[in-house]
Amino acid sequence: MINPIVEILNSKSLRLAAAVICLLTILITTASAAHLESLKIPPVPADNPQTPEKIELGKRLFFDRRLSGDGTMSCVTCHDPETGYSDRLAISLSYPTTKNWRNSPSLINTAYNDPLFWDGRAKSLEEQALFPMMSAFEMNQNLDFLEEELKGVPEYVDAFQKVFGREITRQRIAMALASFERTIVSRNAPLDKYLDGDNTALTPEQKKGYEIFTGKGKCAQCHTGANFTNNKFYNIGVPENSVLINDPRVTATMRFTAKVSGYKEYRSLTEDPGRYLVTKDKKDWKAFKTPGLRELALTYPYMHNGVFETIDDVIEFFNRGGGVDKNKTPLLAPLNLSDAEKRAIRAFLLEALKGDVTVVKMPDVP
Ligand code: HEC
Ligand code: HEC
Repeated sequence: MINPIVEILNSKSLRLAAAVICLLTILITTASAAHLESLKIPPVPADNPQTPEKIELGKRLFFDRRLSGDGTMSCVTCHDPETGYSDRLAISLSYPTTKNWRNSPSLINTAYNDPLFWDGRAKSLEEQALFPMMSAFEMNQNLDFLEEELKGVPEYVDAFQKVFGREITRQRIAMALASFERTIVSRNAPLDKYLDGDNTALTPEQKKGYEIFTGKGKCAQCHTGANFTNNKFYNIGVPENSVLINDPRVTATMRFTAKVSGYKEYRSLTEDPGRYLVTKDKKDWKAFKTPGLRELALTYPYMHNGVFETIDDVIEFFNRGGGVDKNKTPLLAPLNLSDAEKRAIRAFLLEALKGDVTVVKMPDVP
């Protein structure tokens, strides 16, 4: 006997309907792919709701140097509110005697990013927060030790009880940090007002820049949505930062990271393999995540390795059609922008995406 449900599923009309739905979804997603949106409140996971007390606890932890092995570094060391929640260095700071190998991204609007990191190896802010603490070249802390250390501080014992009704664990440390990070946002940029219907919010030059960004410049192929990223990975041919091979301590960090990711040829590595280390898929070799573009005036230098000091360097780079790499994405081609067009894109990027950034003052760290 034929199962009636299978029969229905096999029916021609149903398959046709499924095909139409599929096609519609594709059409809708492609149509919205190149659209910029004004910024809404960031998403919050159901199992880690925001509360004022949790945010405050997260802020204290963010500033607390106990989170690092030798007690000299906090998250602020590399994500300083005074410098756009970054450290303004091409290659980020690092644990004493070691060297980092990538640029420290600004944490402004990181709440909208999914996945996180230049190579997307963390799925949530809760998951991400433990990485820098454990990393040998970042905070180099032992998490069992950290839990005991914080349990020796009565203010933290009380605060975790109040916030979670439970004792201090690494997961709860990460949850509090993530809650705080979700409050670091840039809102009310001229572009948000413009997209919400205020036609006077952009100057004529910024408006021209917006049109090039979404039109001739083809930037919105990748920098799309409310936070200007499609959260996908591309090899756009960014030149290597020469310290990767010229500074033995940076080389060591690069090879160590590749080794622990399970890449067998890590000893001969001379460049940053990017997303490849996460997927081990050849097509991801040197692919990096499309970064969000808000508050660019604060977040220089640019790219995963900070090789571009100014926004003009970045615009020139895209105008040439990106860099030179055999694996480079076909989405980039020379743009032939005039000087006036370059100035307009610059005005759009530096001024129209500049909004009100959360101001954070040093809390009382117990
Ligand atoms: C020693 C410097 C350093 C310290 C300390 C540090 N970070 Fe970072 N952070 C970085 C670097 C470098 C990256 C990018 C690494 C990568 O993508 O491979 C990063 C990436 C991130 C990201 C991903 C952002 C995104 O949108 O993709 C978040 C979130 C973050 N850090 C939060 C924290 C928190 C929370 C702490 C404290 C527990 C912290 N960081 C401590 C250097 C640091
Ligand atoms: C094919 C997708 C793609 C297109 C098209 C594209 N970008 Fe990007 N963009 C990226 C990726 C990926 C990165 C990061 C690359 C890296 O670090 O190696 C990036 C980095 C940037 C940065 C540096 C941000 C930072 O915080 O470091 C800026 C600024 C930028 N793009 C602006 C533009 C502009 C302007 C255009 C159009 C002229 C454009 N992009 C077109 C994918 C794209």
